Amino acid sequence: MSSLQGKKIILGITGSIAAYKAAMLVRLWVKAGAEVQVLMTEPATHFISPLTLATLSKRQVLTNIHSGESWNNHVELGLWADVMVVAPLTATTLARLSYGIADNIITAVYLSARCPVFFAPAMDLDMWRHPAVQENVQRLQSFGNRLIPVGVGELASGLVGEGRMAEPEDITGLLEAHFTASYDLAGKTVLITAGPTYEPIDPVRFIGNRSSGRMGVALADAAARRGAKVRLILGPSKLAPAHPEIETIRVETARQMYDEAVRCFPDADAGILAAAVADYRPAQVAEEKIKKTGEEMTLHLIKNPDIAAALGKMKQPGQVLIGFALETENEAANARGKMQRKNFDCIVLNSLRDPGAGFDVDTNRITLLYPDNNAVYFELKNKYEVANDILDAASNTFNKTMP
Ligand code: CTP
Repeated sequence: MSSLQGKKIILGITGSIAAYKAAMLVRLWVKAGAEVQVLMTEPATHFISPLTLATLSKRQVLTNIHSGESWNNHVELGLWADVMVVAPLTATTLARLSYGIADNIITAVYLSARCPVFFAPAMDLDMWRHPAVQENVQRLQSFGNRLIPVGVGELASGLVGEGRMAEPEDITGLLEAHFTASYDLAGKTVLITAGPTYEPIDPVRFIGNRSSGRMGVALADAAARRGAKVRLILGPSKLAPAHPEIETIRVETARQMYDEAVRCFPDADAGILAAAVADYRPAQVAEEKIKKTGEEMTLHLIKNPDIAAALGKMKQPGQVLIGFALETENEAANARGKMQRKNFDCIVLNSLRDPGAGFDVDTNRITLLYPDNNAVYFELKNKYEVANDILDAASNTFNKTMP
């Protein structure tokens, strides 16, 4: 049985040539046993007929906040849905969503929705790459909405490149994965560190790194959805988890992250250390902004505490600790060394050599290494799916360590 059986799905369709694919989405979901409510912007109705979608969904399609004399209750709809998907999403509606402009039925329902929201952009290559669009995509992600990555191929303009809406089968697969998430982590407390740390030099400058926090935030959301109580210790990141029950503790420096992690770990069943912690910090933080004086300047750095190693020492029987290693050379050997030094039960290896893996991208390719020399290789996946693979490892380790 499909995990979409009995699920209530809102599909928002906006005015892109890819709107024709929406018919296939509705068909797939209805066939899988879902109830589908279609919402369309007015321009979308020029690309595909509401009658087609009403027939496929067996429900009236809403194209306006008002229809005739009656008001379509967008608040009720927002609360009704188990998930909302906007596909295809044009640059215009993307901008409306990102700035909360509730002037059509899709944006109004979006603002009222408490359920997870997925969005599948569709646009021409240069539009997709434009910083205005990319910034809006990031804004939606920072609200916890999930980007369904665009595909590469021939576009309606004849240009070839990124910007195609994801295929209906792939979008459906993502939704199925989303609903399959079981409650195998119910009753468990999971501590996650994520994001970069910023180490101040003076009141305006810091040493930081390019971590976006995306992997750790995806882990937090996925763990919460699998029933865990999640504490997320998050360094300076634009992102925030979507799940309302996650306790997010915002920190700035490695030492603050260390203090919080050491305080929280005794209550945790698992610690997952996805943060890119700065190894060193300036020995002294200038009280005033440092002035430019000579041709050169030297910063004296001292070592930060190693959070992972500290938790590895504190670890009690039954607790699971999972770390990350981002390596550029001798990947497996370096990662295994870290796993041993820090007393991890599993280490997630990312290679910076992999296209599609690393900082500030939606995808990741990981290898899980275990102390018994086992290694499990995974394909390139989006970070939410990767998060679930890592949580499967945590869950299996619990089952092994439990009496
Ligand atoms: N880590 C941590 N605290 C630190 C440094 C690292 O908790 N001060 C954690 C990371 O979150 C990650 C793991 O340790 O899970 C490995 O991080 P990495 O930076 O690769 O390890 P380092 O020990 O700093 O090794 P390197 O010599 O490669 O910098």
